Amino acid sequence: MQAGHSPGERVGLATHVHSGMESSLQSRDVAGVHDFVLLENYGSEDAFINNLQKRFNTDIIYTYIGPVLVSVNPYKNIPIYTDDVIKTYRNIHYFEAIPHIYAVTNTAYQALKEENKDQCILISGESGAGKTEASKKILQCIAVTTGRTNQVESVKEKLLQSTPLLEAFGNAKTTRNDNSSRFGKYMDIIFNYIGDTIGGSLLNYLLEKSRVVMQAPGERNFHIFYQLLSSSDASLLDSLHLSPNTYYHYLNTSIVSMKDNEIDDIGQFRVVKRAMDVIELSEQEQTAIFTLVASILHLGNVGFSQDENGNASINAPETIATVAKLLACDAAQLTHALEKKTIIARGDSVTTPLNKELAMYARDALAKAIYDRMFTWLVQRLNSSLRPVDDEFNRTKVMGILDIYGFEIFGKNSFEQFCINYCNEKLQQLFIELTLKSEQEEYFREGIEWVPVQYFDNKVICDLIEERHKGIISLLDEECLRPGDTSDMGFLNKMSINLVDHKHFVSYSKAERTMLKQIPRDEFQLVHYAGKVTYSVHGFVDKNNDLLFRNLIEVMASTKNTITKAVFTEKELESKKRPETAASQFKKSLNKLMQILVTKDPSYVRCIKPNNEQTSGIFDEQLVRHQVQYLGLMENLRVRRAGFAYRRTYDVFLKRYKSLCPGTWPNFNGDPKDGVALLTQHLQYNKYEFSMGKTKIFIRYPKTLFMTEDLFQLKKNDLATLIQRKYKTHAARKNFLKMRWAAIVMQKYIRRFLAKRAMRRRRLAVEVLRRLLKGFITRDGEPTEDNMAFIQLSRINYLNRLAGNLPKSLVDRDWPACPKACRDVSIVLHKLYRGQQARIYRKNLSPEKKRQFDLKILAEKLFQHKKKSYTSTHLTPFENVRLPSELHQHKTQYETNQLVPGEKLMYCTNITKYDRHGYSPRDRALLVTNKAIHIVDIKGFKVKHKLSLESITELVVTAEMDGLLLIRIPLELKKDKGDLILQCAHVIECVTFIVDAVKKPNILKIASTSMISHNIIGGKEGQIEVTAGSELGFGKGKTGHLVVTVN
Ligand SMILES: Nc1ncnc2c1ncn2[C@@H]1O[C@H](COP(=O)(O)OP(=O)(O)O)[C@@H](O)[C@H]1O
Ligand SMILES: [Mg+2]
Repeated sequence: MQAGHSPGERVGLATHVHSGMESSLQSRDVAGVHDFVLLENYGSEDAFINNLQKRFNTDIIYTYIGPVLVSVNPYKNIPIYTDDVIKTYRNIHYFEAIPHIYAVTNTAYQALKEENKDQCILISGESGAGKTEASKKILQCIAVTTGRTNQVESVKEKLLQSTPLLEAFGNAKTTRNDNSSRFGKYMDIIFNYIGDTIGGSLLNYLLEKSRVVMQAPGERNFHIFYQLLSSSDASLLDSLHLSPNTYYHYLNTSIVSMKDNEIDDIGQFRVVKRAMDVIELSEQEQTAIFTLVASILHLGNVGFSQDENGNASINAPETIATVAKLLACDAAQLTHALEKKTIIARGDSVTTPLNKELAMYARDALAKAIYDRMFTWLVQRLNSSLRPVDDEFNRTKVMGILDIYGFEIFGKNSFEQFCINYCNEKLQQLFIELTLKSEQEEYFREGIEWVPVQYFDNKVICDLIEERHKGIISLLDEECLRPGDTSDMGFLNKMSINLVDHKHFVSYSKAERTMLKQIPRDEFQLVHYAGKVTYSVHGFVDKNNDLLFRNLIEVMASTKNTITKAVFTEKELESKKRPETAASQFKKSLNKLMQILVTKDPSYVRCIKPNNEQTSGIFDEQLVRHQVQYLGLMENLRVRRAGFAYRRTYDVFLKRYKSLCPGTWPNFNGDPKDGVALLTQHLQYNKYEFSMGKTKIFIRYPKTLFMTEDLFQLKKNDLATLIQRKYKTHAARKNFLKMRWAAIVMQKYIRRFLAKRAMRRRRLAVEVLRRLLKGFITRDGEPTEDNMAFIQLSRINYLNRLAGNLPKSLVDRDWPACPKACRDVSIVLHKLYRGQQARIYRKNLSPEKKRQFDLKILAEKLFQHKKKSYTSTHLTPFENVRLPSELHQHKTQYETNQLVPGEKLMYCTNITKYDRHGYSPRDRALLVTNKAIHIVDIKGFKVKHKLSLESITELVVTAEMDGLLLIRIPLELKKDKGDLILQCAHVIECVTFIVDAVKKPNILKIASTSMISHNIIGGKEGQIEVTAGSELGFGKGKTGHLVVTVN
């Protein structure tokens, strides 16, 4: 097959599985071959069936016809459905492991993921063949295979739980199958781009709603009724006014009593409740559903009686009250709607009573409508729960699973079976279209050498049923829409007339004599692809009309139940158009389904039922052969054997495998066909292995493709490395550029920062330098901010220098030069220092020295700038004894002998005394005591004069450099004969001592005149004349004066 199975594109060789396959080949005598393609006698139906049987007998239920999976219902549990098995199949190629539904699923899933193509798995087979079970296995496989995140888990759980929920409401026990699907189901599993399940979407097809009100013998109503009644939840049943012991008309029309040993209703109810929770049906929604189920049971128990006018009336008003209560509508209104019928004719509404039969019909129609619409509501509710999150919508892929009611033949077949079988015709048609027909047509189109395989094309039957204007559905609609009394027989007649020549239609009027017995007058027979089915024409018109009286719709629209309120609307009543008939609707929905399916890559599971007893171990050869025939499996095999396992357009093939040949890699610019030719040459394809069509290459055996794919997978590693390398380089370079850029930016900032900092520093430095220079230049100026530092520094330096260079002695008047700024300080310091030095000097002075100084100071006071000799003498220390040494003894003696007590000698010197008359010189010694002045004879130290200190009035000296000393004494002191005229070598010293002793400094007079008079005793006066001369001299001048010559 081209579609769906392009196995070679997904090879993952696992050698251990190979050996598994080989061993299964070895054991084929017992277990048969796993792929019918390997059958030696592939044209023989017997061999085919024999192979199936061998496998069935060894509990191998799956066999391939190439990519098509044939499954035989084992009617017993075989241990091949564990999660481990699923995991094994996950990594194995389809053709490499023994056939399994998981292999089909996994192959489709991988194709979805890798080729990004929507998939669908079509499961066909008659009722009870195992379709629903197969669909569950597929779901299970997907659930185990796909992602494990919370969100995915929750979606998968919902998907899985949707099955038991829908089965409870849509499946029932039939004579064919205890769990027969009474509705068609198409489920899309929605995957995101990485292959995780992210949602789902369901389509439901024609529920067999007639079952709600009536079941054939041996069959049951839908499971949910029994499940609800078996519920152990007493309060639930109470609230619904239900009891397991009550007789329910809608259940007991069947001879099967409520309890069925085979079916675990109690357990199933729990499963259903859980499923409802998982699907996130609210408590309120769940109650609404159970209320509707209960309402239908109660409604079934509403009986009618008929009065003599033929007007129906309800028997048990309390039952209708219960129904009204449950649905939350007005009981009277409901009663009215069940007993009467309102028709709007040309704008007027006309109400007419119903007879019993019509009332019952109305009641049943209502029950069916409620159940049918509730079922559809439930599917929609499931869809809203399974809807994927919006943002993932664009890149999603889906895998559809079609599990629809299978072809079925009952003892009595009605409209429903007609629809179901029509549906199966359509699916068979699709199968033929996509496998047998299109494949062969393709070989022809592509110019491949081909011997056509004959097969039965059921298109003729499809046309018989659905052709516009001519088909059965059109005829049925015609009868239904016809004015006047329409009837089932009218419909049958129409068919008998119109379809008289059709090979696949037989009716009583057309039947051969031999068949007359088989076809009663009110029946017709269709020769379906899967067999002849005789349909009873009864109910066709009604069921096709599917009418619900408008008052009933009105009542339903007025109910408070969430579901009925939503599914019956006033709007429906307003619509003037006649609703489409059931068959037309179904036809439309089927055609839509076909359109959905053809857009996807299909995979096929063909289910076969081994017996009609629903028991394991029985292989009814006749039954199986029939199915093999109508399913077209032999033709399928023949096409498969003669055909090619794989085909692809040249461009696609080249695109995938071009990397395997240097001539086509990396690009082949010519015609893709030439490219492929080059490729096959390079790969050394055997000429039997493939064929070149007009637009496609056809490869006969999967193994050729496996080999190519293996090479590709290996090459992929190289390519991946190459891509990785390129990418890594690119990524690394990108990263590098990014880093470089970042570094540059960083550098920029850092540089700016550093530059700014340097600039700040330089500016600061300049400022500092400028200040420094300015400070330096102005360092001798007034203190400013700028020169302050210099000043400070020069002060410090000065002080340091000063400290090291302080004058050592007081006499040293030197003082280190100072900067201008320190001048004041220097002066102060100098003064302070000298003061300090002087203090120290003073402190260290001996009394003698001190005395010396006191005298010197006194001398200074007395003489400085006054007497010329002062400057030449002031540095000579004073001595208190200025006597030649030979006189010292005299002096001592004198001291001891002549001085009065308390009298102390202060000074003594030798002097020259001049007489007051003749001025003749006499050598004398002068002694100064603290009381008097003694003038003694120098020879013997005899006292000549003794003058008390108080008696001295004046001391006179000249301003010149002479040694004259005139001591004025009061005239009264006659004894002394006038003032004393002395010449003293150390006149300054002498006067100082005397003044010191007298303690009257102003006693001294320094005469500035050249004439000094002196008293002579007797009131006379002498004159002393001071004249300049070359040499110092004393002597009596011609004037009679004492002349003192000074230079
Ligand atoms: N693979 C299987 N393994 C075991 N039993 C199966 C298998 N397939 C089907 N059955 C049995 O057959 C019954 C009918 O199968 P089902 O799938 O409901 O048929 P269909 O949907 O085709 O009408 C199931 O209830 C189950 O008991
Ligand atoms: Mg089923």
